[in-house]
Amino acid sequence: MVGTVRTMKPDDVASAMELSIAANWNQTPEDWYRIMQLSPGGCRCIEDGGKIVASASLLPFGMQLAWIGMVLTRPEYRRQGLARRLMEDAIATAERSSIRALKLDATDEGRPLYESLGFVVEEVVERWGRDSGEFLAAQEKPDLGGDDSSKVCAALLAQDRAAFGVDRGELLEALSAAGRCNASENGYALSRPGRVARYVGPCVANSEEEARRLVAAHLDVEARDHCHWYWDLLPANPGAVRVATRFGFTCRRSLWRMRRGESIKNNDAMVYAIAGFELG
Ligand SMILES: CC(C)(COP(=O)(O)OP(=O)(O)OC[C@H]1O[C@@H](n2cnc3c(N)ncnc32)[C@H](O)[C@@H]1OP(=O)(O)O)[C@@H](O)C(=O)NCCC(=O)NCCS
Repeated sequence: MVGTVRTMKPDDVASAMELSIAANWNQTPEDWYRIMQLSPGGCRCIEDGGKIVASASLLPFGMQLAWIGMVLTRPEYRRQGLARRLMEDAIATAERSSIRALKLDATDEGRPLYESLGFVVEEVVERWGRDSGEFLAAQEKPDLGGDDSSKVCAALLAQDRAAFGVDRGELLEALSAAGRCNASENGYALSRPGRVARYVGPCVANSEEEARRLVAAHLDVEARDHCHWYWDLLPANPGAVRVATRFGFTCRRSLWRMRRGESIKNNDAMVYAIAGFELG
């Protein structure tokens, strides 16, 4: 029997992975664990006979903003109101904590549900991809000096806050620890493993040239593995589109960045890669 909404536990992750795999998403078990760690009680689910059949996550960034992600329903359980129950649960939790805005990146499938719950579209967000490392131009010899996971939080937090709109230091620290970090005085770029492709992002920089240099270092280091890449960007920043195009990435799909509640002042011109559809 389909149960009530409850908190997801680490033991549930194997079952929850079946949902994200069915949707062909890129998250790994570590991505679920990371959200659980950063937001205790923030991963919620509905089960049926011990099997997770629907999920949603809520990741607060202080009281100003929380990000909703991992909204998934097992295909055979869709259109029974499960995602709506999880969304109402996330909204109620955020309201109890006096969180002033909620945001998410919506697929076309999810958008009508979110609109019915008061979310409005802010902008487009795009998934770009590249199928192997062979494109990297021979002349790109980036300097990986400054690759230091602690730097991103210490030196660049203010810059990231200006770009994203709120402090997300804890998330950046966790993502740095999970992958690779390249930082300079003018920006930073992270990358981490994914289920089907390595993921570059977030990247925040004060110029297109700096973003190109920071991302090139990641692509160069991983090129030896000829790995597939994903890179999610905001096309409102044409510089991000230019840099991704230059590195041989192409646009694979388009989602809707949506908001419910207060508007957050941010600066897309500094955002060259987002952290992830489930993270912001
Ligand atoms: C998007 C997704 C999460 C929706 O999950 P769901 O559990 O089917 O969602 P709900 O049942 O709560 O609502 C979906 C629709 O079913 C309708 N519905 C709800 N209960 C129903 C019922 N008993 N009978 C018929 N329709 C019903 C809802 O009104 C809604 O209709 P809409 O299309 O007009 O909005 C699911 O399709 C999914 O996992 N998709 C793949 C991953 C994805 O895109 N996730 C969203 C990321 S932002």
